[in-house]
Amino acid sequence: MSPVSREVQDKCLIITINHAPVNALSHAVRDGIVAALSGAGSDDVDVVLLICDGRTFFSGADISEFGKPPKSPSLADMIDALEQCPKPVIAAIHGQALGGGLETALACDYRIMDASARIGLPEVTLGLIPGAGGTQRVPRLAGMEIALELAVSGKPISAERAVDAKLVDCISPENLRQTALRFIKQTRLTKRPVREMPVPIMDEAAIEKWSGFARKKLAGQTAPDAVIEAVRASCQEDFLAGLTRERELFVDCMSGAQSPAMRQLFFAERLASKLEVPLQADPLSLRTVGVVGTGTMGVGIAAAMLGAGYDVIMSDANTDALTVGHDRVGAIIDGDLAKGRITGAEHSGRHAKLSKAQDWAGLSACDLVVEAVFEDMEIKKLVFGELDKVLRPDAILASNTSYLDVDALAQLSRNPERVLGLHFFSPAHIMKLLEIVRGEQTSDAVMVTALKLAKSLRKIGVVCGVCHGFIGNRMLTGYAREAGLLVLEGASPEQVDKALKSFGFPMGPFTMADMAGLDIGYANRRKLDPRQFEARAFHVHDQLVEMGRKGQKTQAGFYRYEGGERIPSADAATSKIVTSVRSREGIVPRDVSDAEIVERCMLALINEGALLLGEGIAQRGSDINVVYVNGYGFPRWRGGPFHYADALGLNQIVSRIEALADQHGSRWWHVAPLLRELAEVDRSLSDYSSAISQSN
Ligand code: COA
Repeated sequence: MSPVSREVQDKCLIITINHAPVNALSHAVRDGIVAALSGAGSDDVDVVLLICDGRTFFSGADISEFGKPPKSPSLADMIDALEQCPKPVIAAIHGQALGGGLETALACDYRIMDASARIGLPEVTLGLIPGAGGTQRVPRLAGMEIALELAVSGKPISAERAVDAKLVDCISPENLRQTALRFIKQTRLTKRPVREMPVPIMDEAAIEKWSGFARKKLAGQTAPDAVIEAVRASCQEDFLAGLTRERELFVDCMSGAQSPAMRQLFFAERLASKLEVPLQADPLSLRTVGVVGTGTMGVGIAAAMLGAGYDVIMSDANTDALTVGHDRVGAIIDGDLAKGRITGAEHSGRHAKLSKAQDWAGLSACDLVVEAVFEDMEIKKLVFGELDKVLRPDAILASNTSYLDVDALAQLSRNPERVLGLHFFSPAHIMKLLEIVRGEQTSDAVMVTALKLAKSLRKIGVVCGVCHGFIGNRMLTGYAREAGLLVLEGASPEQVDKALKSFGFPMGPFTMADMAGLDIGYANRRKLDPRQFEARAFHVHDQLVEMGRKGQKTQAGFYRYEGGERIPSADAATSKIVTSVRSREGIVPRDVSDAEIVERCMLALINEGALLLGEGIAQRGSDINVVYVNGYGFPRWRGGPFHYADALGLNQIVSRIEALADQHGSRWWHVAPLLRELAEVDRSLSDYSSAISQSN
């Protein structure tokens, strides 16, 4: 059945689209709209209304069709048909009009928007530019500044701003369809194609501003520059010439390496929160959430929970720390109001939902408690023991541990099935990633509830099994090891950081270690069996900590941080330590190239990822891309470690690891069995899923 239906009512041809879930402009939709428009020439029709059923107006071109052979009518053909329709066309927008969805609306003669709807050009988030006239029509209607804002930032704007900018004619306060029909009756409608509007005025200041934004926030990405060039091309008399330039730039982006990487992530991020083996259980109801521990993590978790509408009770054994943590959450809420992120009502609502527990019993009403106390098994065990005494048997008990054994913690509960790990990333109210650690006994209902919780927190929940460091931190161990060894062999920490920053990370491993606190890794290593890690790689780290240089928090670690600034500067004291460790280890420093730094760090990351995927710690390869891009700053435009590996070729990865094993010994460099297996059959790491492996 066609997703497009048509009816004529009072000489208005109403074209209604219903293509679940989000009215993407798939081939059947485009075809249906073009066919429906063919009836518009009839004398029975004076005007056309384009409206969608379901939760939204068009969410854009169908991303799953990208990279496949084009099917006629294309989006551009459909847009031409709308613009050339002999009768005025009105677009009625609810939900979102994004990308090709907004471009479709811009090809209509009038636009009406539901008060809560949003419009945007998010193609840049897919490594693309608008390819169906968005960069040409928005400047003609509303000027270059707003066109650049929409297409470079990729962020949607509200109905109010859209009307102010003259992108939309009016807002519908209530029933959109009725408002549109009333508008049609009350207005003298004419054809007014945007392409015939005056040529936009060149705005060099806006170009400068958005080029600066792209350099700072979207470093390494090619689409933002293409957007800017396309918008620049709108300032010429010949509309078609601008459109042609936009198309050329769109095709360049589509055929480049970045867009496939980012499109793969679009689907991977949505797949991550689905279980390979679906669970039948119903989610438990969550209303009140307890947060134990009021340090940076506890504060961020509490703020995130309040943002999702939960009542939050904070608790800390230290009453002063409790007051400070509670106030810090209050300050986050106040900051959100000051920055216009929340309304006055939301601000007072969040304050009202935040409270403190004076003792363990104060948490007894909680449906879920997340402990975020110091990363020490003994302290966590104590907290779990106390919580187990006061919580209802069906309340969920979560640990925000980054490394520790969730199953060992579960053993302390009378109901181990209610225990799981919820590993947030700092700052927890901002970072999108949430590792959901499924213990051996975690019940299906608890898992389903945690996945729903991630959604309500607007986070990407990635399910993982229990192991030291789960997905993200476990992979980091190989990466940090190679970074440490490269310094012993001859690189400086600055060179390693710079090479990985040039690769696309926001910061290198030593800047990151300084930021996280060198003492955390130090304490962690003390609890590990020395056979589990390469101690030499961390001798410099250890010596720095023993000198009281714990990183940013002590104004010195690998780098110096002067006057409380977070900007690292190289420190001769660190070089001295490096030199002494080298001579103690009998290492004669050599020249290390940037290419070697990137290769060794990336191969270590990929190989550890393949090992844990083979062990079933991650459900699927694409989850590993999602974790690294959203939690560890892996450049989005490279698609994540496995997408990068697939692009290089798994055979090449295997032979490079074997070469490193020959050169450096096979203690750490042994090819993960799954990696070798997939390379042999020419399959992809990103596409691998445990469900596929079970069915094979
Ligand atoms: N093409 C194809 N599929 C799309 C799509 C598109 N443009 N937009 C969304 N989908 C799919 C998602 O993959 C998801 O599929 P799944 O249920 O199989 O996982 C489903 O539609 C729902 O999307 P989701 O993002 O989970 O829903 P949401 O309600 O959280 O968000 C949107 C809705 C429209 C805001 C969001 O989907 C979105 O931003 N879409 C992409 C917009 C875009 O980039 N458009 C420009 C394309 S050039």
